[in-house]
Amino acid sequence: MKRCLWCKQKAVIYMREHRLALCKECYPKWFLRVTERLIKEWHMIESHDKVLVAVSGGKDSLGLWFALTKLGYEADGLYLDLGISAGEYSTKSKHFALQLSERIQRPLHIVSVAEEVGRPVPDLAFASRREPCSACGTVKRYLFNKFALENGYTVIATGHNLDDEAATLMGNVLRWQLAYLARQAPVLPAKEDLVKRIKPFVRFTEKQVALFTILSGIPYIEQECPFSEGAASLFYKDLLNKIEERSPGTKWAFYSQFIEQLQPLLNEKFPEPELKPCSKCGMPTTAEICAFCRIQAIAYSG
Ligand code: AMP
Ligand code: FES
Ligand code: ZN
Repeated sequence: MKRCLWCKQKAVIYMREHRLALCKECYPKWFLRVTERLIKEWHMIESHDKVLVAVSGGKDSLGLWFALTKLGYEADGLYLDLGISAGEYSTKSKHFALQLSERIQRPLHIVSVAEEVGRPVPDLAFASRREPCSACGTVKRYLFNKFALENGYTVIATGHNLDDEAATLMGNVLRWQLAYLARQAPVLPAKEDLVKRIKPFVRFTEKQVALFTILSGIPYIEQECPFSEGAASLFYKDLLNKIEERSPGTKWAFYSQFIEQLQPLLNEKFPEPELKPCSKCGMPTTAEICAFCRIQAIAYSG
């Protein structure tokens, strides 16, 4: 058994890519230090910012909310009730989010998709004949932004980790989706009525985040969204883990080198089409009517 490099107690994790073994007391300290460094280096949060964490009840976003408050940021939570009743998914995940809110004494705002859109996510996917995850993603992004704007938040933080981001990158690279690649970044600056978005956990693998959340004594929903089954991203994550096993550090190199070297060039070459207010709701969009309003219209007519 390896010993902790910092204090020589029994290690709970050995990170081959860093050649670093740490114990259950030192690991959370290391984790918070790395998070803080990334937030500073990539200018994620400035001192005047009011931070809203999108909390799903899963290990990543609960861990993130906890980490940010530990680091001294006065971050509030936003839980979007998707209305997914299979396996009581939404009820259970909301319960975990409320539990952490109580523990850290920070408010958790709750917004219901059924109330905002007219139907819960499962019906929405059916009514709009889109992949559930694609309609759900549009609705989430829109409602996070709307809530932040209306309540004076200047930063929206999500729990995406390195496995999520590297898998998305792989999907985009395999099809050379240049316009998507141009906008895949851990920090999306504020623009018109779009609030700044950040992903402070992109430096960590899914396993590293899970260990931090578990060692912090935070219960979370382990169940995946019932619609995620068979998603291509799960396959890419698997492939990337196999590559990482062979060659530790590859996942971070793949992602970070893209962010540092290629993404800025693509962003310049493929500027986002000009945004104008949606003719129905007034939120910024590249189309006449925004994607959210189009989904909402179908939801009401279906
Ligand atoms: P996912 O798209 O499910 O992988 O989630 C990515 C991130 O989006 C999570 O880490 C959360 O920060 C946020 N998120 C996902 N679902 C919800 C939800 N129902 N309510 C609030 N935030 C969410
Ligand atoms: Fe939205 Fe699964 S369809 S979380
Ligand atoms: Zn609209």
